Amino acid sequence: MSKNFDVIVIGGGPGGYIAAIRAAQLGFSAACIDEWKNEKGGPAPGGTCTNVGCIPSKALLQSSEHFEHAGHGFAEHGIEVKGLKLNLGQMLGRKDTVVKQNNDGILYLFKKNKVSFFHGRGAFTKADAEGYEISVTGKDNETLKAKHIIIATGSNPRELPGAAFDEKLILSNTGALAIEAVPKKIGLIGAGVIGLEMGSVWRRLGSEVTILEALPAFLGAVDEQIAKEAHKLFEKQGLGIHLGVKIGAIKAGKQDVSVEYTDAKGESHKIVFDKLIISIGRVPNTIGLQAEAVGLKLDERGFIAVDADCRTNLPNVWAVGDVVRGPMLAHKAEEEGVAVAERIAGQHGHVNFNTIPWVIYTSPEIAWVGKTEQQLKAEGIAYKAGTFPFMANGRARALGDTSGMVKFLADAKTDEILGVHIIGPMASELIAEAVVAMEFRASAEDIARICHAHPSLSEATKEAALAVDKRALNF
Ligand code: FAD
Ligand code: NAI
Repeated sequence: MSKNFDVIVIGGGPGGYIAAIRAAQLGFSAACIDEWKNEKGGPAPGGTCTNVGCIPSKALLQSSEHFEHAGHGFAEHGIEVKGLKLNLGQMLGRKDTVVKQNNDGILYLFKKNKVSFFHGRGAFTKADAEGYEISVTGKDNETLKAKHIIIATGSNPRELPGAAFDEKLILSNTGALAIEAVPKKIGLIGAGVIGLEMGSVWRRLGSEVTILEALPAFLGAVDEQIAKEAHKLFEKQGLGIHLGVKIGAIKAGKQDVSVEYTDAKGESHKIVFDKLIISIGRVPNTIGLQAEAVGLKLDERGFIAVDADCRTNLPNVWAVGDVVRGPMLAHKAEEEGVAVAERIAGQHGHVNFNTIPWVIYTSPEIAWVGKTEQQLKAEGIAYKAGTFPFMANGRARALGDTSGMVKFLADAKTDEILGVHIIGPMASELIAEAVVAMEFRASAEDIARICHAHPSLSEATKEAALAVDKRALNF
């Protein structure tokens, strides 16, 4: 006997679990199927984000930053630390506890919202006039049926040919978040978001970190001025960043991994690392979904093909998050999940791709929304720029964290904010003001005329907005 629902969501990451909750809020009977297992084989909803992504990486970034402050930053504040010691087991254990709190939080939210949760792999088995039949295989073995299906099966780390992840020496994000002893030498392939965040964690804990990046430019998607500043600061911290490299043979030995590469000048090198982390992007995950059983269309890169509203080629089948086009970000997945549930209910859910913020949680943090200066130039849009350095911000001085700046880009004629780019303390929080401003199509002058608390880092945002009109007050 099959169990019937209005909406079945396959995948319980940020895209899927949020879609299921929103569907239930809208009065649908909703089910969510997720196969992620914790170390005891029990359910661990929350997907990549909760288990091996956003949450554990931020936990380790925080812990390792405390360690770095205790070792190098406290003395300036007159706090002397003697006998500082790293207890990596405790640090990793704390990270696991934070993950579990989030897993349990999602299970609680399912109960609260009356979402039926099934632990196992969901697969299409058939389609008929009433809808779709989905099998669940795993801890729960069930047959479910619903008119509406939302696929939110996420993504997996991309492998480098000839260097399969063994999670012991050659690590994906999963292994990189669980190294049991601080390696002497870590190699990282890919100077993207994961490379910089994981590289920062292990450098702070004592590893010598070398990052090998194929592209000649550092952080090519980031505003050039901000990327340049970041490059300078990260190298000063001790991250070895090599751009424009071509990776050759990678050989895992018993205890180490050797990597051959050619540098930007064409010279050959070989480095032996204790661990190698490969972070060269992620690929959409449709493994085991049996998409072919119902004729679900994938695009040429393996993503589920969807229109702007997340509709697939099949009636009443939707897909959201990392498994479809667009940035692979948890908040993008969530917004799509909400919008799809609302569309199923006949509402007009909408995701504004122009105002999705990006954050890289290094120190200093990098955050941005909207267009970069190089994009505006390429598109021939006339703009004005205003920047304000944290060096001139009283709160940043008090914190002892004065690196970086806030940068505003506004339309030359209308003054509408087109992009905001921040490198500096708490950039992840400061960017929210810029996102709100852009959603309301505010001008730089609007932000410049709003009262910001003193002393606060957000005054740097106001000052950068003032600088667009060349009238910053404190610089
Ligand atoms: P996922 O989170 O991947 O969830 C998919 C779920 O579906 C998984 O639980 C999977 O087991 C399950 N599943 C798949 N197939 C089936 C099936 N057939 N049946 C049942 N279950 C199935 N993004 C941010 O916005 N901020 C960050 O700080 C951030 N940090 C990150 C750090 C790292 C190291 C990594 C790797 C990623 C990070 N991301 C971050 C990206 C973020 O994790 C993803 O964008 C987000 O998880 C995508 O959500 P999703 O719901 O589409 O997929
Ligand atoms: P990425 O796309 O951010 O970076 C991959 C990097 O690897 C690029 O710079 C690319 O040029 C380089 N690269 C690709 N092939 C290479 C090769 N053969 N040799 C050397 N370099 C090569 O991907 P990453 O870091 O794996 O992260 C995946 C995604 O996860 C991100 O794009 C992001 O969407 C998400 N994420 C988000 C975070 C956040 O929001 N703070 C944190 C971590 C991940």
